[in-house]
Amino acid sequence: MGFKTKPISDQIALVTGGGTGIGRAFSEALAKAGVRVVIAARREEVLRYTAEELNLICSEERVFTYACDIRDHSQIRSLINHVVGRWQSIDLLINNSGLAVPEAVDQITEDGWDKVMETNLRGVMQLVRAVLPHMIKNDFGDVVNVSSQAGKRGYADVPSYCASKFGLLGYAEALRDHVRKTGANIRVFNFCPGLVDVDNSVLDAEPRAGFIHASNMARTLMYVLGLDRNVVLEDINLYSR
Ligand SMILES: NC(=O)c1ccc[n+]([C@@H]2O[C@H](COP(=O)([O-])OP(=O)(O)OC[C@H]3O[C@@H](n4cnc5c(N)ncnc54)[C@H](OP(=O)(O)O)[C@@H]3O)[C@@H](O)[C@H]2O)c1
Repeated sequence: MGFKTKPISDQIALVTGGGTGIGRAFSEALAKAGVRVVIAARREEVLRYTAEELNLICSEERVFTYACDIRDHSQIRSLINHVVGRWQSIDLLINNSGLAVPEAVDQITEDGWDKVMETNLRGVMQLVRAVLPHMIKNDFGDVVNVSSQAGKRGYADVPSYCASKFGLLGYAEALRDHVRKTGANIRVFNFCPGLVDVDNSVLDAEPRAGFIHASNMARTLMYVLGLDRNVVLEDINLYSR
């Protein structure tokens, strides 16, 4: 039996950390394709500024903001209730929010470790748990996780970040197995980028040496979303040569 499809311009996306960097690049590409995009992160003024900029580019209100700390499950519940209440679905969840606390193995603090794990891992788990029932009810959904090359290799300066990004891939694999076993029409994609030049995101700007331009992330996302519903594409490794 074929899987249900939905035109991209009818879709509702939730992009965590959509106000800055990679999340902003994703949101811009989605909005330009007609997707209504909710960008969620802690800093409301940053979200508002980005939404205004992107809506100006689209000449239409396609980007909406919601201030939220993904470490707090009650805030996540309110966020999901808000999105589903307004648009009746969440078709695309992009787990992009994340951070690193650079503390070497012999210097890791409890606070640093917890902050990284709560944001990069627990936040994602909480979001997926809240969004999954709506995707299942609507028989349609995609989950995109932003891991890292630090989810593939260990780096001495960011051990907690590496542990969280490796962990995210493990969680995503379990989620993929879950949706396969339950027959849900949900795809799970993981990005594992190397260095992305998020400080130099002007279109056509030359990225710093060793970095890729954020627009490559956005172009890859749009390509991946266009694949058939039965296609499993595992980790997307992309980095500067
Ligand atoms: N840039 C790179 O070279 C690179 C390479 C590999 C992977 N990545 C990954 O790519 C993702 C995006 O990073 P970026 O490079 O675009 O950096 P960024 O601009 O710092 O983006 C991180 C985003 O996460 C949000 N965030 C952090 N804590 C949050 C929380 N508790 N609740 C909700 N949102 C939170 C931040 O917004 P607020 O502070 O307003 O909450 C910010 O918008 C991250 O997961 C990162 O690990 C980046």
